[in-house]
Order: sequence, then structure tokens, then C-alpha cells
Amino acid sequence: MKIFIVKDYLELSTKAANIIKEEIEKKTNLILGLATGSTPEGTYKELIRMHKEEGLDFSKVSSFNLDEYLNISYSHPNSYHAFMDEKLFKYLNIDKNNVHIPDGNVKNVEEYCKDYDKLIDDSGGIDLQILGIGQNGHIAFNEPDDRLYLGTHVTNLTESTIKANSRFFSSIDEVPKKAITMGIGSIMKAKKILLLANGEKKAPVIKELLQGEMISTQNPASLLLLHPDVTIIVDEEAAKDYLSQKK
Ligand code: PGA
Repeated sequence: MKIFIVKDYLELSTKAANIIKEEIEKKTNLILGLATGSTPEGTYKELIRMHKEEGLDFSKVSSFNLDEYLNISYSHPNSYHAFMDEKLFKYLNIDKNNVHIPDGNVKNVEEYCKDYDKLIDDSGGIDLQILGIGQNGHIAFNEPDDRLYLGTHVTNLTESTIKANSRFFSSIDEVPKKAITMGIGSIMKAKKILLLANGEKKAPVIKELLQGEMISTQNPASLLLLHPDVTIIVDEEAAKDYLSQKK
């Protein structure tokens, strides 16, 4: 596990974007796993700048998003379809046919989830997966539990996630209670993983992760400790509990 503790969110975003850029330059038809949430927004801004100012080419890049709320229309401003378009895709030369985001409105959702994993496998698998982390250790919408699904599936969001995500909605009642999410197995199949975290709210969960001593399905991100190629970039605020116990 490679760990980078950087000064602030700007440095985190620049470093993450640089890693993504290097991978695209090495493999023009890179398959990216993408995340929503506030954490990667700065990284996406920097990628847009790199595309505009440095000609970073996304024309052959494909992407698979981690998750989407269930029963939310694409046009809803808080759908992850809208988020990805607003924050990234509409500014890049990525081919929309190569963009994949789980569809929260399908009829046969179980079959759809299986097909989503198959599509990832058939495309050659995710080369670089970007991840945020929830305060409760969730990655994508794999919430702490005794047992975790391997594949893409429908999940109930926990109270803490609903509360955390209510900041994007006008009231907590509007936050969807279910989502489609890639499973832990889908995420662990990625060849490389880049996990980002900023801000002091993430400090307790980041401390556990960086200590790297134990895994538990009650902290889904800890399972990443079993992956052979994980890079974690955190800012000093997110690393503060880890750093203070090391002193
Ligand atoms: P955030 O969410 O980036 O908005 O903090 C991360 C997550 O819940 O996975």
C-alpha cells in the first residue's frame, strides 16, 4: 500500500489527477472506475484542466461508475448520472458509448447487476479504480455489515450514509434509501486502486486504514488491505488521528 499524506485538498486533487494522467498516457484505452461524492470533485476539475490546457486525450478511455441511487431519474440533479456529466464528462472528449453508470431505473435489477459485472469483465477489467471513503468505512455503497456482497447488487443505505448525503438534498426525506453498487469483489478485481480522503470527518476511519493492522467487514475499506496495488492519498486533516497516535 502506498500512502501519501499531502498538505491540503488542492494538493490531493493534483496528485490524484497526475496519477490518472500517467495511466492514460501509458494506455490510451484505459478503463477507469469512477466515483461520485465531494472527494473526487477537485481531481475531476484538474483532469478537465489537463484536457483543455495540456490536451489529455480521453477519446479511447472507458469508464465504469461505482454506484447510482435506485429509482432516481437521470435528470435529477442529485443522480450520479447528472453528477458525472456536470462534474466531468461534458468537458472531456470521452466517447459517451464508453461511459457506464449503473441504471437505477431498470426493471430486472438483479439481472442488470450481473450484466454490469460481466460488462466490466468482458471489457478487460478496470485498470484504475478511484474511490472515496465514507465516515463509516463504506466504499461505493458497500456499507458495514457482517457479510458483504462480492458482485454488483442493490443495497439499503445506512442511516449514517443517508444523513451524510442529505447535504446534497433539500431535506433528509428526499435522500433515496436504496442504491445499486458495485460489490467488494467487483472493486477488488481492479488492477490498481486509488483511494482519496480529505477533511477531519474522515480522520477516525483513515487512522484505522493507515494503521493497516486488521480487516473487518464492519469497515469495508479495510478489505483493500488485501489488494496488491492500492495507493491512498489523504490530506493532513484526514490523516490527523493517524499522525497523532504515531507521535
Ligand atoms: P464524499 O463521500 O466524497 O462526499 O465524502 C465519500 C463516500 O461516501 O464514499
